[in-house]
Amino acid sequence: MPSLATTLGPLRLPSPFVLASGILGTYEASLLRVAAAGAGAVTTKSCSLAPRAGHPTPCVLPWRGGFINAVGLSNPGVAEEAKVVRAFKASCRTPLIASVFGATPEEFAQLAAAMADAGADAVELNVSCPNVQSEFGTPFAADAAALKRVTAAAKKALAHSGTPLAVKLSLQCASIGEMARVVEGEGADWVVAINTVGPGMVIDPETGRPVLSNKRGGVSGTAILPLAVRAVYDIREACPHLPILATGGASRLEDVLQHFAAGAGAVAIGSAVADEGPAIFTRLAKELEEELSRRGLGNIAPLVGRAHA
Ligand SMILES: Cc1cc2nc3c(=O)[nH]c(=O)nc-3n(C[C@H](O)[C@H](O)[C@H](O)COP(=O)(O)O)c2cc1C
Repeated sequence: MPSLATTLGPLRLPSPFVLASGILGTYEASLLRVAAAGAGAVTTKSCSLAPRAGHPTPCVLPWRGGFINAVGLSNPGVAEEAKVVRAFKASCRTPLIASVFGATPEEFAQLAAAMADAGADAVELNVSCPNVQSEFGTPFAADAAALKRVTAAAKKALAHSGTPLAVKLSLQCASIGEMARVVEGEGADWVVAINTVGPGMVIDPETGRPVLSNKRGGVSGTAILPLAVRAVYDIREACPHLPILATGGASRLEDVLQHFAAGAGAVAIGSAVADEGPAIFTRLAKELEEELSRRGLGNIAPLVGRAHA
């Protein structure tokens, strides 16, 4: 039987399929359901120091095989989130990646330390949400100097615990490969690519008005697969030794194989989980096992980075 086990830097995953941040990631019960379905790791919904209400509804719109959303990073705040992380870790061995979102490097450092204290297996910096620009300005992921400061601050805050650090990048920058080099230089253990794309807009043809309350929202799902695959490829080219958690547009095994070939060692699934439910993790694991057997492979390693040969 082939093994699905993989690694993201120092973190060992029993399967390469990871729950992406923002989908079923707020409550312990839904995280446990995803873990029980066989996810290799779960990522929590991004949390900030204080609770946030997010944008008013409508803030998530299904859009032809994906979504456009401007949830606006609603979350219960770090104190409540730490309880969720502790409860999950007390009853489940599946690795938990805690996603955090701050307004300054100091806030990112504080959040990273709090999640490490709560027992998270890794901390993921969400520096790339496109839906809160009116509130927070250009995302850190689009500004190399700011990105360097945020990554350095979080890395320092995690030095004591040794908790691995991931940084989630965005296509909203001049060169995603260059941004990956910046975070690798500050000690990021892996990068996550990509966040939602855009922002975009959907207009109700009847009324002629934007559908989302925020008007603009991040686009996800099948439509962004080629963009995410190209982002993973660019990062692998720029940083051949930096592990990559691909995120964007994956719902079928053939999508996952593209992400592996581009250079990803694991693939996070977001929109397709919203669509198909946690069972997608069981399905993809079975399909990947069959694919490895068909190719006579013992693990996914030979499939990773093939596009660069
Ligand atoms: C409704 C929704 C909420 C999201 N919330 C977050 C979030 O809180 N933090 C984050 O880093 N990404 C968030 N994302 C982005 C996803 O984690 C992922 O990067 C993106 O959707 C692309 O993957 P997909 O095509 O598989 O959905 C959200 C996406 C959706 C659709």
